[in-house]
Amino acid sequence: MRYIDYKSPEIGKNAMELMERDKVMMFGAHTRTREIPLVVDYAKGATIKDVDGKEFLDFGAGYAVVSAGHCPQEVIDAITEQSKKLIHISGSDFYYLPQIELAEKLVQITPGKFSKKIYFGNSGAESIDASLKICRHFTRRSKIISYFGAFHGRTFAGMSVSGSKAIQKAYFSPLLPEVTHTPYAYCYRCTLNLEYPTCKKEPYLETDIPMLPCVEWLTDVVFKQLVDPEEVAGLIVEPIQGEGGYLVPPPEFHKLLRAITKRYGIIYIADEIQSGLGRTGKWFALDHWNVEPDIILIAKALASGLPLSAVVGKAELMDSEVNSKAWRAGSHGSTFGGNPVSCAAGVETLKLLENGLIENAAKIGNYIKEKLVEIQQRHRIIGDVRGVGLMIGIEIVADKKTKKRLPEDLTKDGKNIKQVVMGSCFKRGLIVLGCGVNSIRFSPPLTITKEEADRASNIFEDVIEEIERAVQG
Ligand SMILES: Cc1ncc(COP(=O)(O)O)c(C=O)c1O
Repeated sequence: MRYIDYKSPEIGKNAMELMERDKVMMFGAHTRTREIPLVVDYAKGATIKDVDGKEFLDFGAGYAVVSAGHCPQEVIDAITEQSKKLIHISGSDFYYLPQIELAEKLVQITPGKFSKKIYFGNSGAESIDASLKICRHFTRRSKIISYFGAFHGRTFAGMSVSGSKAIQKAYFSPLLPEVTHTPYAYCYRCTLNLEYPTCKKEPYLETDIPMLPCVEWLTDVVFKQLVDPEEVAGLIVEPIQGEGGYLVPPPEFHKLLRAITKRYGIIYIADEIQSGLGRTGKWFALDHWNVEPDIILIAKALASGLPLSAVVGKAELMDSEVNSKAWRAGSHGSTFGGNPVSCAAGVETLKLLENGLIENAAKIGNYIKEKLVEIQQRHRIIGDVRGVGLMIGIEIVADKKTKKRLPEDLTKDGKNIKQVVMGSCFKRGLIVLGCGVNSIRFSPPLTITKEEADRASNIFEDVIEEIERAVQG
């Protein structure tokens, strides 16, 4: 196939000036692209204005962070009021209302009626580290199971359990030892070359849940050939895989993982950092399958953009007064984790989500998905449309009949399909982000309207049409 003719977006004068200043000062490993040269001045709801006055519809939401929209007034008010009273006192050592209030709410909305406790950190990756420490401390075992395609952040623990892109680990070894990766349910491109639902097998042991071959890889290959399950401390998994391509596993997948982890006394950690807090049309993605993990990790949307993460776990895992094997006083902590202003923003964010936004995510999510499926029918290069609520992935291929991917170097200067779609959308005023090898994600704020959904879908189809013409030559 020949290269397609594509030019990266023009950069405005003010944006150019700031980008040049930034380039002098900032580290070189950031993942900004020439395709989205966005220098933001102002943002509200799902609208962003850049420093040259150009307006964009934001279908990335800062990587699924501003679920309650950019700068919601209620959150601004909560931050303002809290800042006048108390900005910092270490939450690991002292007490304050916003932290308690937020913890009470999180315990209530997370899956499982059992007694829970919370640890607040500052970022998603920090909560990953904390959860793995809980598993090892409680079980006194060392091994961890995680997934191909997973993304869990950039700390050493986060990198170690991730399995998404080699560049994220290159030259950082040694990573955390004792981590074994196993296949995720990427049904569109099944690792085992099978097809759902015909791949379903006899129910797993004494359950009535049909076994899936990708899960059987864990029980019959990993547990028999590599790792004795009695030595496994924890299994960490994204209920819907995010960076890996917005992959929604079949309903049996997490039910099976729950049954398997229970059987072997393995702590089941659900990383809902991206999929949680209403994005999928329910509080948590696992709620779609009625699965209750031992630990659930929350970050991103929690405080509408202020840094905050939460590890919500069974009380027995988190508190030595409940179980002597749990973390003891001094086992873990953080200076900034759960700071008063972030917690106040969190309390208000959860109210907004609860009062209509989660419902909107389900409704508009279905609407967009239907539109995308119609677009898929009209175009050869849309291989798969998948997702739940406003966590929607679109996989772009050379031909949907063969599922063959487009060449990695789609343009003369080496741009791939994700970059071409992101740049072409940006030129038309729409911000979308890539995921997986060749997918685009739609992860807008949960505030979006039908009109905004139409606008985004129309722009996206224009872009697909343009690329389709170009690749057809
Ligand atoms: C599923 C998941 N886990 C963990 C992380 C890491 O979060 P953070 O960047 O806040 O450390 C991310 C970030 O994209 C994520 O999507």
